[in-house]
Amino acid sequence: MNTVSTQDLMDWAVALAGQSTMPADSAIYIPGQNIKKVLFGIDVHASDLLLGQKLGVDAVIAHHPADALVNFPKIFERHVDLMTSQGIPEDRARRAIEPMTERWRDRFQSANYDHVVSVARLLEMPFLNIHNPLDEYGRQRMAQAVSLIRPEQPVADVIGALMTLDEIRSAPIHPVVAVGTASAPAGRVMVVHGAGTNGGYEIAKEYFRQGIGTVVYIHLATDAKLRLRKEAEGNVVVVGHLPGDLVGIQPFVDLLREKGLEVIGFSGVS
Ligand SMILES: [Fe+2]
Ligand SMILES: [Fe+2]
Repeated sequence: MNTVSTQDLMDWAVALAGQSTMPADSAIYIPGQNIKKVLFGIDVHASDLLLGQKLGVDAVIAHHPADALVNFPKIFERHVDLMTSQGIPEDRARRAIEPMTERWRDRFQSANYDHVVSVARLLEMPFLNIHNPLDEYGRQRMAQAVSLIRPEQPVADVIGALMTLDEIRSAPIHPVVAVGTASAPAGRVMVVHGAGTNGGYEIAKEYFRQGIGTVVYIHLATDAKLRLRKEAEGNVVVVGHLPGDLVGIQPFVDLLREKGLEVIGFSGVS
């Protein structure tokens, strides 16, 4: 095996998703070369970098971005792409992402963007996060899994189709009908993932307005769920955060192992 760099790790993920450039929600914080052994977790906190050092790894990979990634809200453009792909006019799609963009901008105004990355810097531990390429790959797998569902089939069959994916079937939490009913016709099904975070109330609402019967999210906040339930305009299937993320992550871990890297999984990754 040729020597592997943090850039190679990123490039392989970008290629797996069929993308051409690194998306705004992914970053190489501390670059490194000659990587043979990595620690890979969905969430990586400062102490986990020390764990990496203790385990003797050459790099730590997180799925979720560190707070250093203040450009993160730019990835919500992917929601606009997904919505317009379903015929939602661009101005409506842009209006639907406004509340989440503002919420996340506020979050970054208050976040300590230096904390985790400063620890990696002091430890001289190569550190990166790969978010959208793996979520996009996971979206493709989930969209493929539900692609044969006919509109007249019940919402329960959407869950059945998602359960054909190992990462979802083997998880301790299972997909649920968060909004709507399992016996209702699914209608058109749209997997809304790979866009930074779930679309919450506003984006689900736009899909329903566009005639989508069932929106699939990997997670959904309680207040948004209750609001959508009250309005009863469509169904939302919630996969579960970790299993939903792992649909994209685990195949990438397999790929790294095929390439000869030793991968120690933690924080959801196995
Ligand atoms: Fe994710
Ligand atoms: Fe996630």
